[in-house]
Amino acid sequence: MAEGKIRRRSGSAKPDSTHQQDPAAGVDDDVVRNAPVLTIKWTKLAILALFLLTPYLSLLYLLPIERGLMRSILINLAMSVVGFGGTILLIPVASKYVLRRNMFGYDINKRGSAAGKVKVPESLGLVSGIVFLVVAILFQHFIFSQENSISDSYPPENAWLTEYYAALASICFMIFLGFVDDVLDIPWRVKLFLPSIAALPLLMAYAGRTNIVIPKPLRPTLGFNELDLGWIYKLYMGLLAVFCTNSINILAGVNGLEVGQTVIISCAVLIHNVMQISRSEETRHAHAFSLYIMQPFVATSLGLLAFNWYPSSVFVGDTYTYFAGMALAVVGILGHFSETMLLFFLPQILNFLYSIPQLFKIVPCPRHRLPSFDPHSGLLIGSNDMNLVNLFLRWFGRCSEQQLCIRLLIFQVLCCGFCFGLRYLMAGWYK
Ligand code: UD1
Ligand code: MG
Repeated sequence: MAEGKIRRRSGSAKPDSTHQQDPAAGVDDDVVRNAPVLTIKWTKLAILALFLLTPYLSLLYLLPIERGLMRSILINLAMSVVGFGGTILLIPVASKYVLRRNMFGYDINKRGSAAGKVKVPESLGLVSGIVFLVVAILFQHFIFSQENSISDSYPPENAWLTEYYAALASICFMIFLGFVDDVLDIPWRVKLFLPSIAALPLLMAYAGRTNIVIPKPLRPTLGFNELDLGWIYKLYMGLLAVFCTNSINILAGVNGLEVGQTVIISCAVLIHNVMQISRSEETRHAHAFSLYIMQPFVATSLGLLAFNWYPSSVFVGDTYTYFAGMALAVVGILGHFSETMLLFFLPQILNFLYSIPQLFKIVPCPRHRLPSFDPHSGLLIGSNDMNLVNLFLRWFGRCSEQQLCIRLLIFQVLCCGFCFGLRYLMAGWYK
């Protein structure tokens, strides 16, 4: 985590009830008292949400979707809006608690200015994660329970219930391990593998297809249309979880970037799902399943982004980056569109490939691979560290932190658009 970040007072493993008798408690109370007021960036959030959600909501309205299924989607959507409100209300409360446990970070990209001395509460992705889980768990009441089945054409199916719970268990496990990482600051080589442990519930419960469809151009050479990968498919699922989580975590460190990129990918997934639901009878349930997870995920992420956008009032922590990566990996796997998902991850793939020399220590890798901040001009200057954040600064010149975030997010939008274009061009030819 951040340089100079104080994780927790040594020896204060007990809960807050013991705080009053602790001589150091006054210091903690000062931390809370002197904490900056959290600001919600409503205007910027509204612009971003309008830009990202309008295409999805328009498609939902315009495309022909079976009535019962549409009702489920709308109930899920309404619950997600409540989840958004819950996240907005709970983040200021949780911020006080994390500050009291001395979990804060210093904003590295403001180092040298007054804003760089502010203790920014950390790991607030925990709130998004918990609210998301509550919404997702409550929603099963409407979709899976026998008595409350609201759609004749979408009957309760035990197989789906198992997968739904396995998905939630993996996401929950990942939130927990992400929070453990935020608290304990686990070394890189260990934390790289945390997602493979968190993915275990999903891998063990997975009873779906383990075969892949061979791309059409390769079929004449290979002589078959499908290939059953067996356990290798499960290995692929585990690796996908490791990639999605870590690749989001290393494209980070700029206010709003972690949540921003995730929300854009999730909106692209929503658009893909709604188009596939109306197009293909065969994969309809898989895409509906993805929608039920993605809608509350986007809503709770937007609630977090409201506080995390520049200038960040809270940091999301590895709790969020891991939670986000696992949520996306899970829907990609269970929705059977992991290849499309990987195309949406193009910036993260490029960032990972470019980072390899530093990740594998061929080139020295500092604790934070972030730009340097010039307090006089207020602009960021790209360092020699090998990631997209620095590359953008070197290629497109110095800019403010907010501009840098917007540039990187525009790149994410362009990559998702490219993915849709590629899918459209290759439809019928590739598979
Ligand atoms: C990953 C990156 C690291 C990057 C860090 C930023 C690799 C190998 N690791 O490490 O280079 O610096 O994420 O999250 O690529 N912070 C800010 N501004 C922000 C967000 C975070 O200054 O907008 C700082 C804060 O001090 C915060 C800390 O980064 O406390 C969080 O870092 P952490 O998530 O623990 O770093 P890693 O995930 O290990
Ligand atoms: Mg991180």
